[in-house]
Amino acid sequence: MRKWGPPLLLTAVLMIVTAGFFLVVRLTPAAATRQAATNDRLLTLLLVVAAIIFGLVVGFFVYSLIAFRRRPGDLKDAGGSKGNNRIEALWTLIPLVIIFAIGVYSTNVMIANSAPPSGEPELEVKVTGFQWAWTYEYPQFGIISGQLVLPVGRPVLFRLYATDVIHSFFIPEFRVKMDAIPGIENTVRATPTEIGNYQVLCAEVCGTGHAYMVSPVRVVDAATFEEWVKTQPAAPAAAGEVAAEAKTGPEAGQQYAQQYGCIACHSLDGTQLVGPTWKGLYGHTVTFEDGSTAVADEAYLKEAIVNPAARIVKGYANVMPANYGEQLTEQQIADIIEYIKTIR
Ligand code: CUA
Repeated sequence: MRKWGPPLLLTAVLMIVTAGFFLVVRLTPAAATRQAATNDRLLTLLLVVAAIIFGLVVGFFVYSLIAFRRRPGDLKDAGGSKGNNRIEALWTLIPLVIIFAIGVYSTNVMIANSAPPSGEPELEVKVTGFQWAWTYEYPQFGIISGQLVLPVGRPVLFRLYATDVIHSFFIPEFRVKMDAIPGIENTVRATPTEIGNYQVLCAEVCGTGHAYMVSPVRVVDAATFEEWVKTQPAAPAAAGEVAAEAKTGPEAGQQYAQQYGCIACHSLDGTQLVGPTWKGLYGHTVTFEDGSTAVADEAYLKEAIVNPAARIVKGYANVMPANYGEQLTEQQIADIIEYIKTIR
């Protein structure tokens, strides 16, 4: 039994140190949803199982390297091994049981995290990813926003869409990561449990502006959420798309701004998103990257829409699609500018 002592001790030390590291050092950000807590329990279990296997393999490996090294003057061949059926059966069956148990547990976590809530109706949010921003439509309230605002404690069903290429809707604190794919709908559920500010990231390389596909998430109390809903513009479907076809002016401009995704990057309330806010923009002095300035008049706004790369506003990246001049008619551009003028 004496020669089993050192490798078993080494193995035990490695197991405890590795498992202890995973249990003490938090590798994941704060958990802000009910699903995050469930997810993290699974992750912890996986890391502890991995630490045990790591200890066993590396403990015996390192011990063997030292204990069975060739001594000076020892020129004999190694003895060789004919195999050991009992050990082989054990190291096949034990991992089989572990993998099977992990499979069952993981499936349970997946089912629990994607099950619709039994109590109150869930909040639906239609998330649309496009190069390079996100928009959030709340069909139950008939509103659309460039920011994700959620009431704490209410289950949320995200319906994910993409209009151009594959994006991935990722909120680390929610433990939510799901592809948004053109042509199909993916869904993912989360119930926010912690009031706070988080970020949506895009986790799928989707072009030159991929790194800028970040947008704020605010989890607020129910009363703040109700207040916020009241201040948001109506979604195009709710306001009636026919009206926009027939009319011109700021109202039509508001609908184009939603339809073409402008509001995903340009907030209406002063919040800093990917692009400069539209609040109070008209008539104000804009400072550019090279230090020059200009008054945001109609001519400037038009240039910023059709040729966004011409002058980059200080503090922002050159990521606005350059093809709005082709996507929009002269009248639509004029309507959007009329709309911008109304956001004081
Ligand atoms: Cu969208 Cu990366």
